[in-house]
Amino acid sequence: MIAQTKNNCLKDNEIHCGDARDLLKLIQAESVALSFWSPPYFVGKSYEKNLTFEDWKDLLSEVIDSHFSIIKPGGFLAINIADILAFPDPDMPRIQADNISNKKVKITREQVQEAQRNHPSFNRYQLADLLGCSEQTIDRRLKNNNVRGGKYAVQRKVKIVGGLIEEWAEEAGFYLYDRRVWVKDPCWENGQWHSLSYRSVDEFEYIYIFWKPGITSIDRGRLGKEEWSEWGSRSVWHIPSVRANIKHEAQFPLELPRRMIRIFSSPGDMVLDCFMGSGTTALAAMNEGRRYMGIELLPRYAELARKRCAGNHLPTA
Ligand SMILES: C[S@@+](CC[C@H](N)C(=O)[O-])C[C@H]1O[C@@H](n2cnc3c(N)ncnc32)[C@H](O)[C@@H]1O
Repeated sequence: MIAQTKNNCLKDNEIHCGDARDLLKLIQAESVALSFWSPPYFVGKSYEKNLTFEDWKDLLSEVIDSHFSIIKPGGFLAINIADILAFPDPDMPRIQADNISNKKVKITREQVQEAQRNHPSFNRYQLADLLGCSEQTIDRRLKNNNVRGGKYAVQRKVKIVGGLIEEWAEEAGFYLYDRRVWVKDPCWENGQWHSLSYRSVDEFEYIYIFWKPGITSIDRGRLGKEEWSEWGSRSVWHIPSVRANIKHEAQFPLELPRRMIRIFSSPGDMVLDCFMGSGTTALAAMNEGRRYMGIELLPRYAELARKRCAGNHLPTA
């Protein structure tokens, strides 16, 4: 059951379980000072495995659009995302023809073809004897199926999504206000990038910050002088990522929402996270004396977030 007020709005200081697209409609108009969240990134996590790229775009554009009415005039919507996506695309031409470094037998297709030209009558067993490899190697090289993942593997398309998010936010009525870069640990173990390719290791994410037109009061007293110079006025934040944990597969570190909340809201303000996961934004809001509201699709994560909030005597991550 969803906890609601008398006028059917979602209650604050609660984690609500359901789809953000449905529940955002139940938030009181112009009640949220800051909405900060990290959506599914479309990278194959368990909670997004049934989404197509089109579904994913529909989800994000709809959620962004629903924010306009609930954010206070002069308030902010901030989205944390690793803005380079990689996903299988059956229409994409093949990038890798021949994975040289991964070949156990360093016989190339060209060598086999040359041996064939020199010995047109040889079958593949004779070619194998000649080149000192197995008959299967000859067969694979000639059929050109020694590509990564097998010859039927679909290529991975890489796409920047920052522009899409900016477009959806502008269509909703927001203006881009700022963006920050969160430098985390290189994801050697988890990334797709450490694999056999020339691509770099994914080691930073963006926070795109959008502003809803209205009066924004500037209070430099929200942070101390050192805080402003160390991170408040800095666009690049170095914050270690949360090491893989068994409770949530994509938790962000508490320090990330803490900084966002300290800069973009005042004590007593309402902070929303509609992709709440394990409840990190709610914890940060509580610690900073803000009200919070969380929405999470999966009951097991909503329960985890509630438990973390209930036991929040000290920050846990
Ligand atoms: C990147 S994770 C957020 C992690 C969170 N920041 C934390 O520190 O734990 C995205 C979360 O959004 C949830 N989610 C996915 N689709 C959703 C939807 N349509 N509505 C609400 N939550 C959704 C997923 O279950 C997942 O927990």
